[in-house]
Amino acid sequence: MTRDGATADGGTPLGLPWSTGVVRGTDGAVRVAGVDVRDLAATHGTPAYVLDEADLRARARAYRSAFETACAQVGTGVDVYYAGKALLTRAVARWVHAEGLRVDTASGGELAVALAAGVPGAHLGLHGNNKSEDELRTALDTGVGRIIVDSLVEVDRLADLVRAHRGDGGAPAPVMVRVTTGVHAGGHEFISTAHEDQKFGLSLAAVPGGDSPALTALLRVVARPELRLLGIHSHIGSQILDPSGFAVAAQRVLALRAELHARTGVLVDEVDLGGGYGIAYLPGEVPLDPDRIAKEVAQAVADACRDLGQPLPRLSIEPGRAIVGPAGLTLYTVGTVKPVRLEDGRVRTYVSVDGGMSDNIRPALYGAHYHAEVVSRTSDAAPVLARVVGKHCESGDVVVHEVRLPGDVRAGDLLAVAATGAYGRSMSSNYNLLTRPPVVAVTAGESRVLVRRETVDDLLALDVAAD
Ligand SMILES: Cc1ncc(COP(=O)(O)O)c(C=O)c1O
Repeated sequence: MTRDGATADGGTPLGLPWSTGVVRGTDGAVRVAGVDVRDLAATHGTPAYVLDEADLRARARAYRSAFETACAQVGTGVDVYYAGKALLTRAVARWVHAEGLRVDTASGGELAVALAAGVPGAHLGLHGNNKSEDELRTALDTGVGRIIVDSLVEVDRLADLVRAHRGDGGAPAPVMVRVTTGVHAGGHEFISTAHEDQKFGLSLAAVPGGDSPALTALLRVVARPELRLLGIHSHIGSQILDPSGFAVAAQRVLALRAELHARTGVLVDEVDLGGGYGIAYLPGEVPLDPDRIAKEVAQAVADACRDLGQPLPRLSIEPGRAIVGPAGLTLYTVGTVKPVRLEDGRVRTYVSVDGGMSDNIRPALYGAHYHAEVVSRTSDAAPVLARVVGKHCESGDVVVHEVRLPGDVRAGDLLAVAATGAYGRSMSSNYNLLTRPPVVAVTAGESRVLVRRETVDDLLALDVAAD
């Protein structure tokens, strides 16, 4: 790259919210890690999820090294778990594992993909507020390194399973207890998982005349010989851009750890502070900086332990979006373009693409905002106020609420939406029986399919009875 930001072949990196490999060439078309989007569309079709492997790996490395450095500075260690719910394919699991991350799974399906990728069970975690017996049994059979229990009922369910499964002499199952700290952080209520009035975790708030549900669960785990208490887990929300919540949550979790220690003499080794690190979705948005957040979290933990007179625990974190979100974009082909006059006299250009809420539900689900550009060419036409919409039978089928696109945007243009790597594919559906797009990786000038496009035959194969 030259001093003014141009690449050696004269292209210009688009910068955030795009991945580092996204460059607009001198011919006006965009390349991802050296591959022209027109070639991607011709080879793989649209819509397609496109992943910039080098960018994803660099983010995994950045989080790992930031937290390792910051934790070493305060005198403890850390494990970084990639939250597979953001996007899990075998290749993605291999990449993050190769970068030294572990993998956090939240269902039997995610567990199966991570195991199939060759991630050792010991490097996996299993989450879930309603894990099935099958899922728990698979976790036990495959030696999952930590099962994060989410309710009192589950403590007993898991302990009973271990007893039935392994008998009295078997090794105890490694367990963390997920607590809700009362810290509310993140972009939207639906993705802010630390509220008390929600389904996840066990509250730290004391019950009148008794212990908090969180302490009760910890005591129950300690009392069951079939379980080995590894630590305490907290996840305060998602798309967090103000890091102060992490420090408050850490203090509360460490106070709980001290209380358990005082009551039972058991000092848990590990504290997991979850994921939720925010990324840029729009130009000008500033993502959380891994070095800064790592320093703040490590320092908050060190300060709280000093104040409580307790030794430092090992830390773990679970970023998902911050690793994979910015590394992905979705490539669409523009179809219908329709100007619509608004009540205030303005005109909004509705630009329909060949996907929509089935490949990215986040705008419809919780009003998430994205950025889009026409990527197959540049244009001198004056920009217009546009809304990018999908092809589904829902007026809420919006891909990008508001964006300026060239006034001559037209059918056949390729349009890319930035930062769709996380929670796009993983939350996709077959609504209107659309077939899910492929996941295509681009690495050093080569593209390859990680997950193939679904076909109508796939849909028909699931539909097993004609009457
Ligand atoms: C327990 C837990 N860990 C980690 C994550 C990952 O969050 P993010 O992708 O925002 O980093 C989530 C997301 O919901 C979660 O529930």
